[in-house]
Amino acid sequence: MEDCIERILISQEELERKVKELGERITRDYWGKELRVVGILRGAFIFMADLVRNIRVPLSVDFMSISSYGEESESSGIVRILKDLDKPITHKHVLVVEDIVDTGLTLKHLKEVLATREPASLRVCALLNKEERRIVRDLEIDYLGFNIPNQFVVGYGLDFAERYRNYPFIFVLKPEYYRGEARVPEKE
Ligand code: IMP
Ligand code: MG
Repeated sequence: MEDCIERILISQEELERKVKELGERITRDYWGKELRVVGILRGAFIFMADLVRNIRVPLSVDFMSISSYGEESESSGIVRILKDLDKPITHKHVLVVEDIVDTGLTLKHLKEVLATREPASLRVCALLNKEERRIVRDLEIDYLGFNIPNQFVVGYGLDFAERYRNYPFIFVLKPEYYRGEARVPEKE
């Protein structure tokens, strides 16, 4: 299982520490309020699960699925809502949880869509940020885990062609795994 790892970028311990810190900040900022935490599927599911366990205000969760990529590692620039929220967010304090902000197209579109539903407030928490890749300007990330270099990363919920989400750390894949020359053997 370890054959595909080129380099570990963020260790399990670093992730734990950062998620705890983010949870504490969010708890302070929303003290006395109730939160609706909105996870963006599928990449944010692990980060969000860890994050909510570090938030100490009453909250409910909902999920949305948005796609800007196909199976490729390059953005198509097209953002689609694949699954909308189950519940209305009008008058709710909404915190969107994203795995990574890359070009920023996904987040910009998402914020615009959610803002039209008139939440009491709307903020974003992203685990990773690739500033270098940003196309969209003036995109505020209210709570950010790590700024990372312009490299495609996987693990801790992030995928390449739906694989590697189950690794408990963030890492760079060996190049041959992006090209599909080497494959993790499938057990079926
Ligand atoms: P954006 O619209 O370009 O900001 O893309 C954001 C989405 O692209 C994220 O939610 C991820 O699903 C995906 N993405 C961007 N960079 C990476 C990466 O390095 N690894 C895995 N997924 C990524
Ligand atoms: Mg993805």
